[in-house]
Amino acid sequence: MIETSQSVFVLYLTLKAIYNIWFHPLSKFPEPRLQAASRLPYTISVFRGNATSDTKKWHDKYGHVVRITPDTLSYSCSQAWMDIFGMRQSDKRGNLPKDPRFYFKTPEGVDTISTLCWLNFLTTDIIGESSFGRRFGGLTDGRLHPWLKTVFWTLMSFTFMRELNTWPAIKCAVFASIPQKMVEYRKAAMSFSAEAAKGRMEMGTNRPVFMSYILKHNDDGGRCAEIEAAAITFIVAGSETMATILSGTMYLLCMNPSVMQSLTCEILTHFPKESDLVLVKLQQHECLNALLQEGLRLYPPAPDNLFRETPAGGSIVTGKWTQNFHRPTKFIPERWMKGAPLEFERDGKKTLKPFSVGPRGCLGKSFAWAEMRIILANMVWHLDFELQPDSRDWISKQRVFFLWEKWDPNVRISSR
Ligand code: HEM
Repeated sequence: MIETSQSVFVLYLTLKAIYNIWFHPLSKFPEPRLQAASRLPYTISVFRGNATSDTKKWHDKYGHVVRITPDTLSYSCSQAWMDIFGMRQSDKRGNLPKDPRFYFKTPEGVDTISTLCWLNFLTTDIIGESSFGRRFGGLTDGRLHPWLKTVFWTLMSFTFMRELNTWPAIKCAVFASIPQKMVEYRKAAMSFSAEAAKGRMEMGTNRPVFMSYILKHNDDGGRCAEIEAAAITFIVAGSETMATILSGTMYLLCMNPSVMQSLTCEILTHFPKESDLVLVKLQQHECLNALLQEGLRLYPPAPDNLFRETPAGGSIVTGKWTQNFHRPTKFIPERWMKGAPLEFERDGKKTLKPFSVGPRGCLGKSFAWAEMRIILANMVWHLDFELQPDSRDWISKQRVFFLWEKWDPNVRISSR
C-alpha cells in the first residue's frame, strides 16, 4: 500500500515536472531546467541564503529575463522596473500588487581596533528621533534595545516562513510549529513599537515626525494594529538599511584606497570647516553622490527579490536587451560622474533602482539620501579607516536572508 502511494507520488511529481518544463504558460522563457521543473531548488537556495546570488548567476547566463521557479520570472532591465513597479498604465503595465505569499498581512585620534557596529546604534537613534521624537539609547548607552538586536534573526525566520508559504501542502504544519522564541520576538517587536508610538502620542509636541502623519488618522480606534505595524516598518526599514549602506560603502572605500584618498581630499578641500558639512552643499557634491550610487549598486541594502503578482489575464513586462554595467563587479564611482571615461558610456544606469519605484517604492528615499550624505561625509572628515586583513572578504562571505547577513568587519579607526 505504502509502495503504491509512493509510486503515485513519484508519478505525480514527474508529470508535474514535464508539464512545468514543456507545457506551462511560462515555458517559452529562458530557464535553468531544474528551476523550471520544480520550486524545490529555489526553496533550497533561499534556505542557504543564496537566492539573490543564484538569481544573479542565472541572469548572467540566460539574460534579462529568466524563469527562477515554475511560476516566477525575474527581470534585470530598466524597463521592467517601470512595467512591474511603476504607476499603473492603461495597457496593464505597472503597479503589480505585492505577492501575498511573500508579504504577510499584519495581525493585529586614539587608535583602536573597532567594528562598525556603532553604525547600527547611530541609525536606530536617528530613526527613533525622526519617527517617534526620541532616541533608542544606542549612542548614549552603547546598547541596542533587546528587540532591535533580534531584528536580523526575526527577518531570517520570516524569510523561511514566506518561502514555505509557497508550499501549500506543508504550510499548515510549518505555521503550527513556529518556534516559541520567534513568537516571543514578534510580541517584543509589537510591544516595543506600540510603546514607541504611544510615547509619541503622549508627548504632545508639535514637532512633526514620520509617525505624526500616521497617528493623525488614529481616529477610529480600530487602527492600533496598523499603527504598530507602521511603527515596526519604520524602525526596521529606516535603521538596518542605513547601517548596511554606510558600512558597505565604507568597506568598499577601504578596499579601494585610491578612491578613499580622492574622496577624503575632495571632502577636506570643499568643506574645510566642520560647519561646512551641510546638506544643501553635500547634495551637490558630485563625487560623494557617485560614490554612494556605486555603493548602492554593489551592496544594495534591500537585496532580496521583490515579488509581485500578475493579475488574472496577465500583464505586459518588456525589456531591452542591453548590457547593464561595464566591469560590473568593480567599485568605480566615476561611472556615475559627468565626463565619465568612455568605457562606461553604455552603462544601463536606469537599471539601478535600490529604493524600488512607483507607489510602493521606498517612502524614506529622500531621507535616506540626506542621512547617507551627512554621515559618510562626517565619517571621512573626522576619521581614518583601515580595514584589517581578516575582513577583506566581508561582502563576498555574506548570505542574504531578506537582508544581508552582516558580520562585524574589523576596522582600525583613528581620528585625523
Ligand atoms: C539606503 C537606504 C534604503 C534603501 C535601499 C531602501 C529600500 C527600500 C525598498 C527597495 C523598498 C520596497 C520594498 C518592497 O517592495 O518590498 C522600501 C520600502 C520602504 N522603505 Fe526604504 N530603503 C532605505 C531607507 C529607508 C528609510 C531611512 C526609511 C524611513 C525613514 C524607509 C522607509 C521605508 C518604508 C516605510 C517602506 C515601505 C513602503 C510601502 O510598503 O509602501 N526606507 N525601501
